[in-house]
Amino acid sequence: MIDTHAHIYLEQFKEDIDDVITRAKELGMEKVYLPNIDRTSIDNMLSLEERYPDFCVATMGLHPCSVKADFEKELYLVEDWLGKRYFAAIGEIGTDLYWDKTFIDQQIEAFKIQTQWAKDYKIPIIIHCRESLDMTIDLVEELRDESLKGVFHCFNGTVEQARRIEELDFFIGLGGVSTFKNSGMNEVIPEITMNNVVLETDSPYLAPVPHRGKRNEPAYTQLVAQKIADYRETSLENIISETTANAKRLFQLT
Ligand code: NI
Repeated sequence: MIDTHAHIYLEQFKEDIDDVITRAKELGMEKVYLPNIDRTSIDNMLSLEERYPDFCVATMGLHPCSVKADFEKELYLVEDWLGKRYFAAIGEIGTDLYWDKTFIDQQIEAFKIQTQWAKDYKIPIIIHCRESLDMTIDLVEELRDESLKGVFHCFNGTVEQARRIEELDFFIGLGGVSTFKNSGMNEVIPEITMNNVVLETDSPYLAPVPHRGKRNEPAYTQLVAQKIADYRETSLENIISETTANAKRLFQLT
């Protein structure tokens, strides 16, 4: 299994990160991708990758919730890091209308600039969107070229929105929300194809049932996979092998 989205470099994991990694490896997890947030998260993210170089993989980008009036300064830093070393993806980037709509124009501009960098470096984008899925799919449709790839992380949209993402040949990240009774995903997940689905946790946030409300961790990826298998009336092994192959295609590991 691959956890395509986890912020395990945050302070919630400071005390027991080695145990967290051990539990994930014991379940057969191969890799955990670490989306960046902003200038404050870079050092911790890179030191975690350095500690577990075959397991933790850093990405680089500016999160939409960190796009403020000074976003250009933040973007210079991202650009500088991209020139200095290899990153597996640009992330996480996108739009968020849930917390604060003040900087939506800047969020869109930052998204466009960072998507161009993904094209330049030929790496995928990790997309965050909240209360803004249709708008962000529109944006990707506008910016897309033959080479641009990416994942809509923490997908909790409709079957129709999933189809639009599949048509873009983008990926759908399913995480803890898929296991929540009130998310409606029990009806959506059986209706979408698995060709573009990848697994994620978004640790430490959005822990799957039965850990809802507690700290999330990469080992819980398997709980998400099991729930998808239940909804689709198939085996856990099937879901794991399909989503792992998809994650490798997303991150160009094959
Ligand atoms: Ni995230």
